[in-house]
Amino acid sequence: MRIVLLGAPGSGKGTQAQRLIEKFGVPQISTGDLLRAAVVAGTPLGLHAKATMDAGKLVDDATMLGIIRERLAAPDAAHGYILDGFPRTIPQADGLNALLTEIGQPLQAVVLMEVDSEQLFRRLTGRRTCRECGRVFNVYTALPSVPPPCGGRCETPDLFQRPDDSEATIGKRLDVYAAQTRPLVDYYGDRGLLARVDAEGDIDLVTARLEAALAAASAGR
Ligand code: AP5
Repeated sequence: MRIVLLGAPGSGKGTQAQRLIEKFGVPQISTGDLLRAAVVAGTPLGLHAKATMDAGKLVDDATMLGIIRERLAAPDAAHGYILDGFPRTIPQADGLNALLTEIGQPLQAVVLMEVDSEQLFRRLTGRRTCRECGRVFNVYTALPSVPPPCGGRCETPDLFQRPDDSEATIGKRLDVYAAQTRPLVDYYGDRGLLARVDAEGDIDLVTARLEAALAAASAGR
């Protein structure tokens, strides 16, 4: 399985990718997670990316394509992957296409996760992440209230809010999505790869819709 989860910030790409990796046995490749890990580690990439991320803007295409080229060459990506947060510009999509053509492994589907902007705002302001196990919760919609608070994977609750989930930065990220990433809907639609999924409502229901869309995409090939 080689797919892209496409959608605005807060549309649930990370939440759903975590579920799909269990079912399909392929890794989630989240460029946001890779960048955040580099920031925490204080690598040159992290130092380069931090201010851009905190401002809600996109890291430059050449840097992102370098990261993806390296990540897709890792052994665990040999049998497929779920791309989460990449590509998010036309040059990134062109670069990915060139890379996958070079290795003879084209994308199988691009799933657009559709959520209305009021919902996106609420989800992002309410998101909290466990510092210990990395699991993502939401103070409005996915409460970490059942003991143990981190869902059983770690002992102590240590929830934090991402710096780019401040109200001011969320607005900027949604604008950047509309201007730079949304054009990918037509880009992949024109190539016959796009599947649309209603990503509002219960998380399990969205997973079921996503799986149905992937099954339909695979049957259509
Ligand atoms: P990145 O980490 O990719 O952030 P994003 O695209 O803004 O997406 P999010 O992680 O905010 O949202 P999500 O769709 O994964 O939602 P989630 O599942 O967490 O990128 C961060 C930054 O890195 C960028 O701004 C940029 O600077 C840089 N970057 C990354 N990739 C780049 C690239 N390719 N090029 C350039 N720069 C790049 O869900 C959100 C919340 O909603 C959670 O609390 C969750 O519990 C809740 N939730 C999920 N589903 C539901 C549901 N069905 N109902 C109710 N609540 C739900």
